[in-house]
Amino acid sequence: MTTLKTSVLGIQFENPFLLASAPPTANIESIDLAFEKGWGGAVLKTITPDNLEMIEASPTYAAFKDHQKVYGFENIELLSHLTIKDWLKGIQFLKKKHLTKIIIASMMAPVQKQQWQNLIKTFNKSRCDAFELNFSCPHGMPEKGIGMAIGTDPELSAQITRWVTEVSKKPVFVKLSPNVTNIVEIAKAVEKAGANGIATINTVQSMMGVNLDTFVPCPSVNGKSTFGGYSGRAIKPIGLRCVAQIRQASKLPILGMGGISTWQDAAEYITLGADAVQICTEVMINGYGIIDSLKKGLLDYLKSKKFKSPKDLKNKAIPQLSSHEQLLKKKKVHPTIDNTLCCKCGKCIKICHESKNSCLAFVKDRIKLDKKYCAGCALCSIVCPQNAIKMQ
Ligand SMILES: Cc1cc2nc3c(=O)[nH]c(=O)nc-3n(C[C@H](O)[C@H](O)[C@H](O)COP(=O)(O)O)c2cc1C
Repeated sequence: MTTLKTSVLGIQFENPFLLASAPPTANIESIDLAFEKGWGGAVLKTITPDNLEMIEASPTYAAFKDHQKVYGFENIELLSHLTIKDWLKGIQFLKKKHLTKIIIASMMAPVQKQQWQNLIKTFNKSRCDAFELNFSCPHGMPEKGIGMAIGTDPELSAQITRWVTEVSKKPVFVKLSPNVTNIVEIAKAVEKAGANGIATINTVQSMMGVNLDTFVPCPSVNGKSTFGGYSGRAIKPIGLRCVAQIRQASKLPILGMGGISTWQDAAEYITLGADAVQICTEVMINGYGIIDSLKKGLLDYLKSKKFKSPKDLKNKAIPQLSSHEQLLKKKKVHPTIDNTLCCKCGKCIKICHESKNSCLAFVKDRIKLDKKYCAGCALCSIVCPQNAIKMQ
């Protein structure tokens, strides 16, 4: 029997799909609804000490959109606006109603041992299953010396991880930022300091654009803007890279995220080492209901591959990763053109001529390849508007 059930650090997940710490997990009623709809768990919107000021800018979001399709999403949102008391009561309510759902409490505090340890000790008494330390929010918080200001500094990341693991009675995941030169260095530092798992990626620091009439970057908040955090489908390649790099260097469990919108995206994360996945932006755009197709798609796929659970899929792509040096470079692939699909627009010929080697030409109204000059780069198949070119 194939199942979506999996376990991470002894925690039983009914499926590997969690809501990431973000607006879809910002209040108890919404999380309740998400659990009813079938999500395996939720990472709570990041909780801070009650006295940490949290004033939001408006508008908070901007998007990279084309024909109503959102490719990328930018936010300058801060952290949870609920009090610690609200969360403690909420976790109690959610766990009583949804015993099998996983609740991970995301945490952030100023860089003071007592503040971090008090926060953890308070939630030790709650029924949350694990902690996720937010060392990775790229806006607002770094100005206060926290968020990404911690996660870009391996020593500080290790220090806070030690403070937390000293007192934590639950598994501790550290949420890492992609906005570093070497994410593996930070992952190894927190692993050595006692982290039980890694969650990654948080948003990619970004600037969505500039209004060319007013010269105000967006989102414009009273005529000013600031750098934000980029998420959604556009960041999936960065998330996959980060998860794979950490998996190559460490055996720690990984909660992978960044740009997941389909079951295939989730499956790719698992093949590159994720134990479970988290999703935020796709839920913000299309709602909790996407869980049905995520679960069905992944289950059907596991069955088709005769895998018993997501664990059988984990790391499957890792052996196929190598250095550039080790790639077999002498053997080239070449385009084959399906002239029945080709619309004779000539784009492949033009682009090949202007960017590569001029190996394509019209011969008697058909596109012909001169292999001698073909670099095997695949640019022609990428620009073809008809999908008429395959590399073989
Ligand atoms: C509006 C918004 C708010 C977010 N707030 C938090 C947060 O409070 N804590 C946190 O750890 N990550 C936060 N994130 C980051 C997400 O949890 C996630 O790491 C990131 O968006 C990448 O996943 P996605 O591409 O599925 O959105 C936020 C993301 C968005 C878009």
